[in-house]
Amino acid sequence: MRQDYDIVVIGAGAAGLFFAGLAGQLGHTVLLIDHRQKIAEKIRISGGGRCNFTNIHTKPEHFISRNPHFVKSALAGYSPQDFISLVKQYDIAFHEKKFGQLFCDNSAQDIINMLLSECRKANVQTAFGRPVGDILKTEKGFDITSAETVFQATNLVIATGGLSIPKIGATGFGYDVAKQFGINIIEPYPALVPLTFTDKLKEMCAHLSGLSVEAAISCGRTSFSEGLLFTHRGLTGPSILQISSYWDEGQPIHLNLMPEHDVVAALQTARQKHPKQELQTLLSVYLPKRLAASLCDLHHFSGRIADLPSKTIEQIATTLHRWEVKPAGTEGYRTAEVTRGGVDTKDLSSRDMQSKTCPGLYFIGEVVDVTGHLGGHNFQWAWASAYAAARHMSI
Ligand code: FDA
Repeated sequence: MRQDYDIVVIGAGAAGLFFAGLAGQLGHTVLLIDHRQKIAEKIRISGGGRCNFTNIHTKPEHFISRNPHFVKSALAGYSPQDFISLVKQYDIAFHEKKFGQLFCDNSAQDIINMLLSECRKANVQTAFGRPVGDILKTEKGFDITSAETVFQATNLVIATGGLSIPKIGATGFGYDVAKQFGINIIEPYPALVPLTFTDKLKEMCAHLSGLSVEAAISCGRTSFSEGLLFTHRGLTGPSILQISSYWDEGQPIHLNLMPEHDVVAALQTARQKHPKQELQTLLSVYLPKRLAASLCDLHHFSGRIADLPSKTIEQIATTLHRWEVKPAGTEGYRTAEVTRGGVDTKDLSSRDMQSKTCPGLYFIGEVVDVTGHLGGHNFQWAWASAYAAARHMSI
């Protein structure tokens, strides 16, 4: 059996659903395929079930890519306010949590329903629960085989996302299609992911599991100041998730556990005012008691403030302001929110996401080597890249 469409979209997640609705409303015949019956699972579980669907401050500097300029055109063409207008048209209640992060008041399902409704309005045909087989380039466009059917499309849009959370449908399909057509892949890594430790540090993290503090975490020249949370396997929390996107195996990261205070000044003041105070007692003023105790244990810091030699004071300050730790690894794609790397942007047009070497083939969303910071930026990229492709696509 053969069926003809202007556009076949593979992947009914954030980018694919949004694109299909837009392209259908522009008058194109669109088929949206997903190998899962239950589509858009990442939207459903995002933002703790409330979907942080955009960030009002989204800017190009919130994205990691081999080419940091690539995102500029798409982000300028479709802003957070544009998506907010659509959300408002559907009367979806939302609120700003912090740092411009917008969440649904009720449920992420509101966003999925809105995207599906836009597809229905545009007469988008769907084939969910349908694995895709071979893809062939033809004179007219592409032949896409799924079970007994060959779908013929003038244009093919790949929106299959990254590798994170395979149990809800993530595959490397988009990368395989890119490779098939000679398009380069920037090696994918788990990102926005908890970091793991071994040996004494793992023991310490497990002991402190559940405890959180405000901390500034840096890796190379990049730094994030937000919450840090100890887990049984290592560290997580917003500041760690953010820095994980910049971390490469073998690299150290630096933890500033007292970013709001000057440790040396605090120790000098205490030396004058409370010389008999134990170091651990003083540190407990600034840090949770259990953390202060564990740090003193690990680094063998002890004694009364008045007795601490200047060298030890320096060591304490370095430990608290720039504690160097080497993660053993990450929790991997099982828990990573996104995938860093992907389809090389140098092989795509930044105007419309089309392959430079295979006309009619487009890549949108997370499958592309564009990774947003935590906080709604990844969804904004999904919407903006989908919009760029739909708006500029000619059939
Ligand atoms: P997405 O992953 O959404 O969709 C890909 C689709 O392709 C899926 O439906 C999949 O089934 C399908 N597919 C895969 N392989 C296929 C194949 N072989 N054949 C056919 N179909 C195939 N971002 C954000 O901005 N705010 C947030 O609050 C969160 N929260 C969050 C929480 C958690 C737990 C995760 C895992 C991720 C987030 N994210 C996020 C990231 C965000 O979910 C992600 O960046 C977008 O969903 C990416 O959209 P895409 O459409 O590119 O891929």
